Amino acid sequence: MIDRALVDEILARTDMEGLVGSYVTLKRAGANYSGLCPFHSEKTPSFTVFPADGSFYCFGCGVGGNAITFVRRIENLDFTEAVSHLARRAGIRIPETSLKSVSPQYDKNRFYEMNTKAARFFHRALFADTPDARAALAYFTDTRKMSLATVKHFGLGYAPNDWSFVDYMKKEGYTDEELSLGFLCGKSEKGSLYPSFRGRVMFPIIDLSGRVIAFGGRVMDGSQPKYKNSSDTPVFHKGNNLFALNFAHKHCAERIILCEGYMDVIAMHAAGFPYAVATLGTAIRPEQARLLSRYTKKVILSYDSDEAGQRATDKAISLLEDVGLEVSVLHIEGAKDPDEYIRERGAESFRALLGESHTKFDFNFNRILKKYDLNIPQQKIEAIDALCDVIAGVYSSVEREIYIAEGAKRLSVDPKNLAADVSKKIAIRKRNATKDEAKSAREVLGGFGDKVNTDFAKMPRVARLEETVLGLLQLYPEYRTRTFGKEPLLTEDDFLTELGKRVFCFIRDAEAEDGFDSALLDTAFTPDEVGRIAGMRVLRLRLSDNGSAVFEECVTALKDAVATEKKKDAPPSFDTLNDLLNRKRSQS
Ligand code: UTP
Ligand code: MN
Repeated sequence: MIDRALVDEILARTDMEGLVGSYVTLKRAGANYSGLCPFHSEKTPSFTVFPADGSFYCFGCGVGGNAITFVRRIENLDFTEAVSHLARRAGIRIPETSLKSVSPQYDKNRFYEMNTKAARFFHRALFADTPDARAALAYFTDTRKMSLATVKHFGLGYAPNDWSFVDYMKKEGYTDEELSLGFLCGKSEKGSLYPSFRGRVMFPIIDLSGRVIAFGGRVMDGSQPKYKNSSDTPVFHKGNNLFALNFAHKHCAERIILCEGYMDVIAMHAAGFPYAVATLGTAIRPEQARLLSRYTKKVILSYDSDEAGQRATDKAISLLEDVGLEVSVLHIEGAKDPDEYIRERGAESFRALLGESHTKFDFNFNRILKKYDLNIPQQKIEAIDALCDVIAGVYSSVEREIYIAEGAKRLSVDPKNLAADVSKKIAIRKRNATKDEAKSAREVLGGFGDKVNTDFAKMPRVARLEETVLGLLQLYPEYRTRTFGKEPLLTEDDFLTELGKRVFCFIRDAEAEDGFDSALLDTAFTPDEVGRIAGMRVLRLRLSDNGSAVFEECVTALKDAVATEKKKDAPPSFDTLNDLLNRKRSQS
């Protein structure tokens, strides 16, 4: 098991507000600190650091835990890596041996190696002497006009349309479990393996340390799905990576170009813009915005010119500005995406375009001007309304003032009236935001869409009481002593949700071993789960009365709720049927 004294020492030497403060601007709030949550996007701070016990919790999105959980999340590290990270920070040396013993669930190195072997297999297959392979290579070099150097630089490949990949990887010693956990293979109903990628050209995704972490594969005809991408694996989390950042990070201190597709990025790098990256088959996520903010000052958005691309641009602007990045938008006219633009008009024309990348206000303003005919009064009113919407979404009041002046001039209306309309829109937005927040909070309480405790919606009453009891058990040693004593007050059968049961057993076993300590949670639970468990604790801490009468009441209520819940499931017993029958008889 884990060297607990060492972990305790590391945690004791870590100042939570200093650690968190290097990622988040914190303000003092009583005994605690609060700031904007780095794990979801928000405008009013609900992220709180509790220096007293070295923990954090976000009342908005429910992430929480201690310094280890924080580092696991924000740096995307596993438990061991997070502990070493904190040790380095605190100036504590960790003996190699004790690191090994804190073994993570999976040996990540094996997955990196496996992915590298797979990438080499796909790359070799692209140059094989078969009609299929020749067609795949021709797809890159002829259809997409890539040079061989580019194909090699990005390590592109081809996944043959047969089972040779499975045979090869098995010969290399990888187990069925590893291949399917790593998303390289799937399992048929009969339990036999098949390659996840077949008959597709392959794009390896490489992290900043040069390790292959995932793949995207594109069909060469019009069939669907056009791309298939690795889903999350022990070494890959979509939200935490960007395609080609392994190359771009050396060239992007000043600005980075963010595009939609693999092909766009490759075209840009080949044309002399090696500071382009792409999200991986999804809209940009808050973690990716934060990742970008660590490498650059300014993001030039270069999404497809279709409606979907423009909508994605809107979303990206607000996420990127939330993390303090300057944003501008590239206006690609006459081509569906940057790749096509460069292919048809050449690199120099693209460079000129870059020189003229618009501020986000121009981007929105031009879009409005294009959509409405200002000579028709009704359309002009709609245009003004759309413009007010855009300006109302701007956070800084100084910026708003500039846009109002500029917009009034271009639409030839009185700036005072424009300003008044914008203020109305801001008020409506505020009202709606509060409503939305309340709604999502209600949904969380109701357990809808609860991914951490999937049993919550099935039995909300039991689940809520479980959380209350587990919160109290974490907080007060005397309740633990009473609960787990000679005549246990509660057993695991008193917990019905899968998560509740696991947390209960963990607290019980930890208590029996060396005494429970919330710092241990990270050894057994995912960051999402640790957040939920911290929530149970923090929500109790906020209440004034956690006295033993409350505890006892909650235990009784839980047992009652569990009994009711169990009755719901169980078929009526013979006795109850007899009872009913007797009652019926006596009534008649
Ligand atoms: P595009 O359809 O614009 O693809 O999707 P593209 O890369 O420009 O490809 P070409 O030019 O048609 O060859 C943009 C990105 O969205 C993701 C991929 O990452 C793609 O690069 N995507 C698209 C998927 O993940 N799955 C899909 O089915 C389609
Ligand atoms: Mn494209």
